[in-house]
Amino acid sequence: MKIIEATDYQDMSRKAANVISAQVILFPKSVLGLATGSTPLGVYRQLIDWYQKGDVDFSKVTSVNLDEYCGLPVDHPQSYYYYMKENFFQHINIQPQNTHVPNGLANDIHAECVRYDKLISGLGGIDLQLLGLGHTGHIGFNEPDESFDKTTHKVTLKQKTIDANARFFNNESEVPQYAITMGIKAIMQAKKILLVVNGSDKAEILNRSLFGPITPSVPASILQLHPNLIVVADEQALTKIDPKLM
Ligand code: F6R
Repeated sequence: MKIIEATDYQDMSRKAANVISAQVILFPKSVLGLATGSTPLGVYRQLIDWYQKGDVDFSKVTSVNLDEYCGLPVDHPQSYYYYMKENFFQHINIQPQNTHVPNGLANDIHAECVRYDKLISGLGGIDLQLLGLGHTGHIGFNEPDESFDKTTHKVTLKQKTIDANARFFNNESEVPQYAITMGIKAIMQAKKILLVVNGSDKAEILNRSLFGPITPSVPASILQLHPNLIVVADEQALTKIDPKLM
């Protein structure tokens, strides 16, 4: 594992964007696994800026998003489809048909999960997976559990996650209780994983994820087993990590 220390959120965003843009410059046909949430917003802003300056070209890139809420239409401002369009896709030259987000409105959610896994394997897997870290240690919406869920599946969100996401909705009762998430297998099979973390509220869980026991009760702890994990975190998120381990 490689831990890259950033001074603050902006520095974290720029450093992580550098990793993604290097991937796309070196391998224009890359399959990028993408995340939503507050953490990667600065990464997307930086990539948009470099795209606009002509430094990076997304025309041959394919993207697969980690997750989507169940029951929100794609034009709902809190759907992850909408988030990706608003915060990234509409500002760059990625081909819309090459962008994939699980369909949270599918009548048959199980069939949708099977389709999504087939789609990812049909693309040859993910070259670079961008991840944020949930306060519960979740990655995607793989919540703490008794076992690691391997395939794309429907999840019931934990109260802590609903609370954390409530800030984006008018009130907590509007936060969907279910989501579709890519499973641990597709994430772990990504050739490279880029975990971005900022803020003191993530310090404890980041330490447990990277240096605690590998357990499904801290889903991100499985990342310790990945052969090519890059962590870009700001100083505040790194405060609980023993400097000797970095
Ligand atoms: C989003 C996702 C989630 C977030 C996590 C952290 O697609 O998969 O796992 O990465 O909830 O969210 P933020 O960045 O808002 O703290």
